[in-house]
Amino acid sequence: MRFFSVYDLIVSRSKDKNMTNDDMFSFFSARKISKATLISLQQTSFLPDKPAFKNAVTDFLGMSELEIELAMGHIPAEYRKSYYDNISHIAMLLQKSTDDNVLREIKPFFETDIGKLYNGDCIEIMKGIPNSCVDLVFADPPFNLGKTYDPGIDDNMTMSKYINWTYEWLDQCIRILKPGGRIFIYNIPKWCTYIAAYLGEQLTFWDWIAVDMKFSLPIQNRLYPAHYALVSYIKGVKATTFNNQRISMQICRHCGGEIKDYGGYKSKMNPNGINVSDVWSDIYPVRHKSSKNREYNELSVKLLDRIICMSTNESDVVFDPFGGSGTTFAVAQLLKRRWIGSELGNCEIIKQRLLNPEKDKAQLDRIYQEKNHLFTEESKKIRRKNGFWLSEE
Ligand SMILES: C[S@@+](CC[C@H](N)C(=O)[O-])C[C@H]1O[C@@H](n2cnc3c(N)ncnc32)[C@H](O)[C@@H]1O
Repeated sequence: MRFFSVYDLIVSRSKDKNMTNDDMFSFFSARKISKATLISLQQTSFLPDKPAFKNAVTDFLGMSELEIELAMGHIPAEYRKSYYDNISHIAMLLQKSTDDNVLREIKPFFETDIGKLYNGDCIEIMKGIPNSCVDLVFADPPFNLGKTYDPGIDDNMTMSKYINWTYEWLDQCIRILKPGGRIFIYNIPKWCTYIAAYLGEQLTFWDWIAVDMKFSLPIQNRLYPAHYALVSYIKGVKATTFNNQRISMQICRHCGGEIKDYGGYKSKMNPNGINVSDVWSDIYPVRHKSSKNREYNELSVKLLDRIICMSTNESDVVFDPFGGSGTTFAVAQLLKRRWIGSELGNCEIIKQRLLNPEKDKAQLDRIYQEKNHLFTEESKKIRRKNGFWLSEE
């Protein structure tokens, strides 16, 4: 396994040596390295600068600095030439791990006329899906922030375990994606930097979208986190489908004036709305009890409508490995896309949501009142009253 944190490598090596955590910390404290200093390596994939600390780490691991760098997936700059000069030799030394991609038949938990929901681990479920058969993958995995999910779901992995697991399910998503199909991954920016780098090795970069996070808590000594990242890649070099999405202008809810300055371009604005950019500030979290389908995080119908409409047409296939409350499936079903999904936790919530689509349908209807119109009927009223321009007047 590849390591993404020096601390994870140290812990793994101490387990190989049958050492307890106390033994491990004692080794370092004998070298005058405190527990807190050692733990500071938890979020870093590079060796400490201080020679005494660096030597203690290499001694404990019984590895050279170069071996540690390679375990972290780095080829240090001073070795790169030699690495590329010796590619054929290195390729000969490498051995392929066993390929476990044998398609197996798995029974769905629930089916609609156009969708199939599987209750189980997404990697196992994907192993049952043939190569190149879905047009869109959307994934909103747990963010490894220690949140409580259903039993059996670990949201508190080490950095290395989380990223290796992420790569494992991404491999399957890439395999089942059709050429020209598109993948969207929703996560916090920290994890999306790893996800984007990994996807970039096999797919073509398309968009990095910042989805405005409406409410968040400050983090000490860091900038206030204000967005989620939605990274998007294409299999191959050209997207099969791109349907432009237009949204209404955001206006002040008190006076009706435009929030953004459009300068002298007002007269040229398309009455069908504004092209969606890569900053999405009009997506609101599902917080209110009456709109929520379950306790844990749930994405909005508006977010999924935008993603699905932008990158698929009717009867295309949408796949979501982390079903959650079933937002992707509910929206795909209403938009007449075929869909496949998995969820390791409780799938009954998703089933009930799909059997009772009235709430999602009402929400979608509201979204479509805003979509493809520069102003909604409501915003026209307030703008007219306060003397602001309207595209058609
Ligand atoms: C962030 S939530 C997804 C929320 C979803 N997008 C929605 O709008 O409701 C992540 C979900 O992934 C599920 N999950 C975690 N590990 C999984 C796995 N290995 N396979 C399938 N589902 C998993 C969790 O139970 C959780 O419901």
